[in-house]
Amino acid sequence: MNILDLIRSRRNIKKFKADAVEPNLIQQWLEAAAMAPNHRMTEPWEVYMIGPETRKKLNHKTNFGNAPIVMAVLSRQGATKIETDENAAATACFIQNFNLAAWSEGVGTFWSSIAIKGSNQELLQVPENYDVLGVIAVGYPEEVPEVKPRTPMREKMKYLP
Ligand SMILES: Cc1cc2nc3c(=O)[nH]c(=O)nc-3n(C[C@H](O)[C@H](O)[C@H](O)COP(=O)(O)O)c2cc1C
Repeated sequence: MNILDLIRSRRNIKKFKADAVEPNLIQQWLEAAAMAPNHRMTEPWEVYMIGPETRKKLNHKTNFGNAPIVMAVLSRQGATKIETDENAAATACFIQNFNLAAWSEGVGTFWSSIAIKGSNQELLQVPENYDVLGVIAVGYPEEVPEVKPRTPMREKMKYLP
């Protein structure tokens, strides 16, 4: 699949098959994800692979669509708000890189904001100087949702003099 088709066909997957995803593949996609742009090479991301005990306590309403793998992606805060925002932007690029790498092998991802704040932070042992950008469920899709159409970009573009 070329990159445009890959980007266009990715969906947020809500239902997964029970089939395991090869750990080597996950590792390979994480390494590719880490090639994300990041200002001053802060590499602000950390990935916590969530085990069954913690997962149960997260008490997600669909149990992450029964995905075989669930991981939290954290982003380190900076010394200033600008640095924190830049780090979060870099970590979002990391997540999308991962999601696209997985999708290139037919593996879907579900981005959930279940642990962005509140008691789940403690459950995930999030250090004080980190934010959770997403809990990402990973697995082979049971269902691939229809596309959610986007506003044409012409309506969101401005040409400055
Ligand atoms: C930061 C972020 C948080 C998200 N949190 C959730 C969430 O908590 N639950 C959910 O169903 N989808 C969540 N999503 C996925 C979006 O709902 C999804 O990308 C959007 O509906 C468009 O669908 P698509 O990705 O299949 O094109 C999140 C996406 C992002 C970028």
